[in-house]
Parts: sequence; C-alpha cells; structure tokens
Amino acid sequence: MHIAIKNVKEADCACEVLILPFVEEASNPYVRLKPSVSKLIGKIRKKEFKSNLNEVLLVPAPDDIRPERILFLGLGKKDAVTAEKIRQTGGKAFSYLRDMEMKKTALSTLVFGQLKQSPVHLIEGALLGLYTYKKYKKENNAKTISSLALITIPSKDLSLSIRKMEVIASSVAFAKDLVNAPANDMTPTDLADAACSLKRKNLSVKVFEKKDIQKIGMGAFLAVSHGSKELPKFIVAEYRGSRKPPVVLIGKSITFDSGGLSLKPSDGMEKMKYDMAGGAAVLGVIKAAAELKLPVHLICLLPATENLPGGSAIKPGDVVRSISGKTIEIANTDAEGRLAVADAIEYAKRFKPRAIIDIATLTGACAFAFGGEVAAMMGNDRKLLDEFRKAGEETYERVWELPLFDEYKEYLKSDIADIRNIGNRIGSLMASAYFLYEFAGQSPWVHIDIAGTAWVEKDRPYVPKGASGIGVRLILNLIERVQ
Ligand code: BES
Ligand code: ZN
Ligand code: ZN
Repeated sequence: MHIAIKNVKEADCACEVLILPFVEEASNPYVRLKPSVSKLIGKIRKKEFKSNLNEVLLVPAPDDIRPERILFLGLGKKDAVTAEKIRQTGGKAFSYLRDMEMKKTALSTLVFGQLKQSPVHLIEGALLGLYTYKKYKKENNAKTISSLALITIPSKDLSLSIRKMEVIASSVAFAKDLVNAPANDMTPTDLADAACSLKRKNLSVKVFEKKDIQKIGMGAFLAVSHGSKELPKFIVAEYRGSRKPPVVLIGKSITFDSGGLSLKPSDGMEKMKYDMAGGAAVLGVIKAAAELKLPVHLICLLPATENLPGGSAIKPGDVVRSISGKTIEIANTDAEGRLAVADAIEYAKRFKPRAIIDIATLTGACAFAFGGEVAAMMGNDRKLLDEFRKAGEETYERVWELPLFDEYKEYLKSDIADIRNIGNRIGSLMASAYFLYEFAGQSPWVHIDIAGTAWVEKDRPYVPKGASGIGVRLILNLIERVQ
C-alpha cells in the first residue's frame, strides 16, 4: 500500500473510499465539509452508526464530492481512546476495505484534532493488519489496497514517522513469513539463508556450521540436533550503528520441536514449527534497525536446529557439556530450548555486551499461565526489566515480570551433573528461566517467554491468525529506550 500525505479538501480527494473516523458523543469534526456530507453524517449517526470501537459502516458518498464512498469508523469513547485502540481501528478498517475490494483509499485526520493520539497509529494498525500468508495457496486471489492518501498538512516529522512505521511493519511481516513457513521449508539451513538475505553494507551475517559449533564447544545446543538429519546452524548477525558495546539478542530457533525422544502428543504437534519465533523476531529487529539506521550496536544469535527423535537423538538421562563448562543432565529432551539458548547466552558474554536479551517459545507453562495476552519476563537487571515493561505497554506487546528467587536453584539439582534441564512439574516457568539465569550470571540479561503469544488462534483487529510477529516492535522500542 503506497502512502502519500495530501493537503487537499476531503471533498476533492479522488478515491474509492474516504475514511471518516468518529469518537462517541463528540461533536462532528467534519462540519466544514460539504453540506451534503454533513447531512449524511447527521442522518447516519442518529441510527445506523454509534461510533463504537472498531465499528465500520460503508455507504455511498453524496454525488457532489469526489470520493465514491464513505467509511464511517468508530473509535469509541473519546476519553477511552488510546494508541492501541487506534491501531485496532486501523487494522479493522483496512482489512474490511481490502475484503470489500477497495483499492484507492483516503483518510481524513480532522478527528485527531479532538484527540491526543497521532493518526500514525491508525496507519500502523492498517499495515500490520493487512498481512497475509498465501505462499502455498494456488488460489492466490490477492485483494490488495493499492494506495492511502492521508489528508493533512505535510510535515517532515509526519513523513518520517510514516516511513518508520512502514519499515517496522515490513520487518514484522518478514518475521511472520519465517514463522508461518512450514518446517520442511524452514529448516536451520533455510533460516540461515533468510538471515543472509538481510546482508547489506551495515549488516553482516556469519553462519557457523556443525564443525564450528563443535569446535566452539556448544555441547548443549549441539546435543539437541543429534536426532535430526538436518544440520544445525549457529547464525550470527551483526549491525554496527554505534561504537558502544553491543546489545546481544538471542532468539530460540528450533525449526521444529517434536519433543525428541520425550515425544510430544501428536495433537497440536504441527504447530511446533513456530518454535523458532524468537529467532524470527530478532531477525526482524535487526532488519528494521539497519534500515532505520538506529544508533545501536546489535548482535543477533540464533541457535538453529530441529528437535527430532532420530537414531542418534539425545536420550533422557544423557549428560552434555555446555560451552561454559557446566555439565547438564538432560532429564527431558523436550526441554531443548533452554539447552540451545544457554549455550548462546554463554557465547554472548564474549562480546562484553551492555545487555543480553533472549526471546524464546520456551515453555507450555507460559501459555497456560498467561494465555495469548502477555509474555512472561524474567531477568537480573532492574533498569532493563523496567524499560521492557514500558516498551510492552507502548507497543501493546505486553510483558509481565515473574520472580527468579534463589530457591528455584534447588529445582534444578542433578545427582549426576552440575544442573538438570528440568525441575518437577511445579514452577516450570520459573525453573526454565532460572536455568538460563545460571548461565547469564551477573551479565545484564532479560528473558522473554513468548510461548503463549507467538501464535494467534483467532484473528485480532490488526493481528491476523497465525504467527503474531511478537518481539519485533517490543524489542525495537526497548532499544530506542536504552540506546
Ligand atoms: N517449544 C516448547 C514450548 C512450547 C509449548 C511452545 C507450547 C509453544 C507452545 C518447549 O520446548 C517445551 O516443549 N517445553 C516443555 C518443557 C517441559 C518438558 C519441562 C513444556 O513446556 O512442556
Ligand atoms: Zn520442547
Ligand atoms: Zn521447544
């Protein structure tokens, strides 16, 4: 969708549909449009249209204006309007218009004179909500909106923030495409190729092969890959937008998690292609950071492998040695993410980072506890945790902090090795994070568990069902706070 700012009168804007947003019980912001439009608005607001949040009503426009139709769009009660609600209305309006096969659209911004929020959030919701994944459909009847005219006075600031939203939305779409891809087309090798496709002047990508991973000594990560014929890849992407020490982003990248010999039930196993959503998110972040030339030094680490129960697979009870030298008893091969991420955390320390952030679909317990509404967050750095909470509120990719009490250490005691990869069933969300904490030590670190939020079962106003792309907007916002 091509977006242009146009300084024209609404009535003179040639388009198939003119979008007029309304807040409940507020005065009509469109009184200065043609009398015919005012008359129509008066009539329709009496009965058909209440300005409820996300309400849409498409009507033919009066003959004496250039737009062919008018879309009434409800923003809800004036005092209750938030950036998130505006995003939702953007998602709702534009996916509706796309389904109605509209191509040329225009948006009046007059109502924003009555509000504190910017119309850019409406565009953000529109761009995010228009995402579709049709790669494997023969019938790819691509209904697409071709243009949006934003009717307002042009300014450099506004153009820049629209451009920024476009970059962010395309980076979210990039991440979603990786997650939505079936696991046979998103192997560790495919994921490494996708990372390499991001290479540009200021963004370099290195892929460590199995023998390199062996040499570095990532015995925990490597162990996960033994049950699969697909070769593991340790992907390192670096963007140098500043000379400061880096922020290291680690994304869990299990391209398919069958559970290994601790096999998962077949019901729902097909969804375990999304066990690389953390890796996809960090690639989305670095793509956007490089395109926006953010002043930050970023390093992304993606330990990518399948977790399958092949003949050489790790067995429950096996002991492996992590890069840190710590030995790990693998009591359950389905708790594989923490093995891969732990080695990556230890590796991250080599860069003397300002912060280590890992994002992972780590535990079913996270999904049980929080559903799809919020990600779990744990860490050892108060400032980072606080900034993450604010970033979560602002982007509405919300995070909720859980404790890392010393007592959780007990949960992971092994009789045979330095640590066990699971505790008992109880407290498994905290135990999984505590396991990672044992590797992060005193390095500033935050862990985000997105098991419940990385996949959406039912369409949301600006998140179509499937991969949610969570983490891209959250971490970009966080980076801007701490840079
Ligand atoms: N990838 C899963 C976690 C997961 C579950 C993500 C559901 C998304 C939806 C992870 O590797 C896993 O299987 N964790 C186990 C850990 C258990 C064996 C301690 C779990 O949560 O059941
Ligand atoms: Zn697992
Ligand atoms: Zn997993």
